[in-house]
Parts: sequence; C-alpha cells; structure tokens
Amino acid sequence: MLGLIFSKASTRTRVSFMVAMARLGGQTIDLLPIVTQVGRGEPVADTARVLSRYCDALAIRTFAQADLEAYAHWATIPVINALTDLEHPCQALADFLTLQEAFGSSPADLAGLTLAYVGDGNNVAHSLMLCGALLGVNVRIGCPEGFAPDPNVLERARALAEQGAQISVVHDPLEAVRGAQALYTDVWASMGQEEEQAERERAFAGWCLDEALLSEADPRAIVLHCLPAHRGEEISAGVIEGSASRVFDQAENRLHAQQALLATLLGGL
Ligand code: CP
Ligand code: NVA
Repeated sequence: MLGLIFSKASTRTRVSFMVAMARLGGQTIDLLPIVTQVGRGEPVADTARVLSRYCDALAIRTFAQADLEAYAHWATIPVINALTDLEHPCQALADFLTLQEAFGSSPADLAGLTLAYVGDGNNVAHSLMLCGALLGVNVRIGCPEGFAPDPNVLERARALAEQGAQISVVHDPLEAVRGAQALYTDVWASMGQEEEQAERERAFAGWCLDEALLSEADPRAIVLHCLPAHRGEEISAGVIEGSASRVFDQAENRLHAQQALLATLLGGL
C-alpha cells in the first residue's frame, strides 16, 4: 500500500504513482492533508510512525525539504520525494529515461551528452544537476542573474559528477543551449511563488525556449519540459508542439520510471 501525502497540486505525479502501484498489483491511498489530521497540524513524527504501520511506502509532495526529511527520519518504510521546493527527483528519473530513448539503449550511453536547462534554477533544475552528474551527463544551467541554482546543490552535483560530467551555470541563453543534445525548461514561477509571477515575467524576458534558441542546439536535440507549461512564457507553442519535442513521452516515462522505483523499493516484500 502506497500512501500519497500531497500538499501541492499534481496531475502527473499523483496519477502516475497510482497507476504504477496498480500495475504492480498494489494499491494507493490518497492521504490529502485536508481530510487527514496532517492538515490540522498533527506532528510529522507521529503521522510518519502511524502511517508506517499501515502502508508499505509514502510518496510526499510538500514545500520544505526539511519536512520531507522529517518523514524519512520518523517513518520505518521508504519515503519518496514527489517534489519539494528543493528537488524533484522522480521527474529527473523520467527525464533521463527520455534522453536514453533518444540517444542510446542503456544509461551508459548518456555519458558525454549535454543537457541545457534554460530558466529558473529551481527544484527541477536541481534534480537534473544531481541525476545528470551521476549519469555522466553535462548539465548546463542557463538563468538570469539572481535565479541561479542553490550553491549547495551545485556543490553536491559537482562532487557527484562521474566520468568528467560538467555541471555549469551561465547567464546567457545562447551560451547555455549551444550544441546541446537536450534543451529543457520549466515554469518561471513555481508552486508557492504565484505572487512573484509578474516580477518573474520581467526578469525572464528573453529567456523563452523558442525556435531561435533551438536552432543553436545540436541538430538532433530533443526538447523537454516537466509540465505543466506556459506557452508563450518559458517555451514557445511552436517548440513544445514541434518535431523536437518529447514532452509527452517524457510525461509517460513518469509512469515507467516510478513503476521501476516502486518495484525496486518494494519488490522484496
Ligand atoms: N511534472 C510534474 O511533476 O507534474 P505534476 O505537478 O502534474 O505532478
Ligand atoms: N518547478 C515546478 C515544477 C512543477 C512540476 C514547481 O515546483 O511548481
């Protein structure tokens, strides 16, 4: 039994975890904070220990990374990060699976490729850096000044980097995408930053992943976006709907990657 504790909206992560668990013969309980005592402030230490008596794993989507880590500390079952403000690792699993489908037949084939992420140095960017480093993929983050990734995550990614993978941050979109095999972007204002939308639209002017940027990439380059997308902001409608786009394969891969993750975590039960 997989328990979902989601304090933020979700389509892909929620549904793909439910379907993955069903395909493995398991079940999911949607423990919405509003209908459990979580929403009324029951301590994580108590919730995590109680739910560990009923469930086999928990998938948690929340704001602070520290809250997720508190669940992981107190639970006696696997706790999966289904997105925090700091990281979105399940997304990165699907992203690199999509890159593998385009450029090879095994994770080893990814080493030496370059993934360019243009936009906000957010949770999605962080997980791309960390996962890319482990796979030997160069990850170039292109972002305006003031929107760079967390320096601690950058340091961790560089320490993890295998096979000479370069994890870099640049402040020019053309420099970021030049020659890359994958171009990636995400919303400029993440969940919890809605009131900064207008200010961020001004700061990110010139950072739309559009046809001009795509033309600077490797001619074989694929385009990725974790979705949901804002067409005309971080990505043009032509690019997201164009022939280089793999965004719907990428969304499908959430299901396959998470099914493999659950099988790995729970397969011995
Ligand atoms: N990409 C992603 O995590 O989508 P959801 O917010 O819909 O789960
Ligand atoms: N960076 C986005 C990702 C959504 C899947 C957010 O946190 O809102």
